Formats: sequence, C-alpha cells, structure tokens
Amino acid sequence: VIFESSKEASILVAHELANLIHRKEELNEPCVLGLATGSSPIKVYEELVRMHKEENLSFKNVVTFNLDEYYPMDKNNIQSYHHFMHEHLFNHVDILPENVNIPNGTVSAEELQQYCIDYEMKIISYGGLDFQLLGIGRTGHIGFNEPGSHINSGTRSITLDHLTRADAAPSFLGIDNVPRKAITMGIGTVRNAKRIVLLGWGISKAEILKKTIEGEMSSQVPATYLQEHNNTTFVLDTEASSEL
Ligand code: GLP
Repeated sequence: VIFESSKEASILVAHELANLIHRKEELNEPCVLGLATGSSPIKVYEELVRMHKEENLSFKNVVTFNLDEYYPMDKNNIQSYHHFMHEHLFNHVDILPENVNIPNGTVSAEELQQYCIDYEMKIISYGGLDFQLLGIGRTGHIGFNEPGSHINSGTRSITLDHLTRADAAPSFLGIDNVPRKAITMGIGTVRNAKRIVLLGWGISKAEILKKTIEGEMSSQVPATYLQEHNNTTFVLDTEASSEL
C-alpha cells in the first residue's frame, strides 16, 4: 500500500494496532506485539502515545517483544534499543514493565545461546505474535537478519553486515563504535506472526524494497521471505515505492 506521506500511513498503522489491542481486551486475552526500532516506526509510536493520552488507549493487556538489540550493549546506553523503546513508547504509556521484552545485550557469551532459546520459547508460550511491526535495512534485513539468514531461523546472535554498521555509524559517532554483533529474532520467529506490517519510507529504501517485493525469494535478501506470508502488508511512501 502506497501513501503520499509517511505520517498519514503511520497513523493508519497505529489505528490498526489500537483496534487489535481493544479486540484482545474484550476477549480478555493478552495482545502480543512484536516491535521494531529505527526511524521507520517512530510516527506509529507517536500516534499510539497520543491515543493513550487523549483517547484512553490502555496498554495494560499488551505484551511486547522487541526484534533485536546490539550485542554487547548496556541497557542504559543511549544507542541501545532498550533506551529507544522507552524514550519513544514505554515511558509514555501504561504498559506493565514485566510485559516488556527486549533482548538483553548484557548476557555473557556463555549464556547467550540459551538466552536466545529462552526468548524464543517465551514468545511461543504466549501463542506467538499477534502482530509484528517491521522496518527494513538496506541489506534486506528485517530485525537484524542479515543476508544468509535461514527462512526458519529463530532468535539468535548474528554478525552485522558492513552496510548495516555503516548506516548505524552516525548515531554511534563513527563506525568503529558500532557493535559487530546483535541478538535478533529469526526469520522463522517473524514469519510465525499472525499479521505483519513492514514500513518503508524514503528514497534510500527504494532499491531494496524493489528486490524484496519483486525479486526472487532468497536468503541473500531475507525480507523476500515475507512474500510467502499470508498476512503481510508493505506500507510505503511514494519515494520508497518509486522503483516498483
Ligand atoms: C536497524 C534495525 C531494523 C530496522 C533498520 C532500519 O538495522 N535493526 O529493525 O528496520 O535498522 O532502520 P530505519 O527505520 O532507521 O531505516
């Protein structure tokens, strides 16, 4: 779906999320959301915060799982996804702290593998993700599933691509400060979500979105694995869709 402005599109995505939260509340079930960081979802979070403040949208029945975190990464570091999520969403709504799950970038190397398995199992214990919000990286990654990621991959540690680290360099004041690794939910984890919305804004995403939507499905562009998911929408602005 193509919109003229990312703001208008983000508001509609936020309204879909709000409707889901309400529906789950009526059913007295937790609403399990997979959330993304980066610049793409910021306006969705802004609208959710506005609806919380002005329209009494409550997050008391919401459980969240974030896609990824740099590794190693301290929670208090301003570049951490932990910090990002609290600044843009969690600090401004009534979500219960125990319902917020973000991969922990401080687990030891020895514990890392088991930690990732436990993260995956926790998502499964809630019956999977009701909704997964995604951005896309210029390598074709979703979460931090870089080229080479397996279609059935689960939560794990991964080595970041050079392009991904270069794109993150400005916020780390130089590429040398960007962590070389990350913890990410897998392609399989994401594809198990009942509903997926991928946001793509701006001309810098046009080329990778063409490959993702029109290209052949391949582990070289992991986002192409969304082509086979039966309830995924790519929400794009005019610039991001310009190569389609
Ligand atoms: C990072 C995140 C992704 C995100 C991507 C794009 O690599 N791990 O989840 O989709 O950046 O970021 P942006 O939305 O800022 O373009």
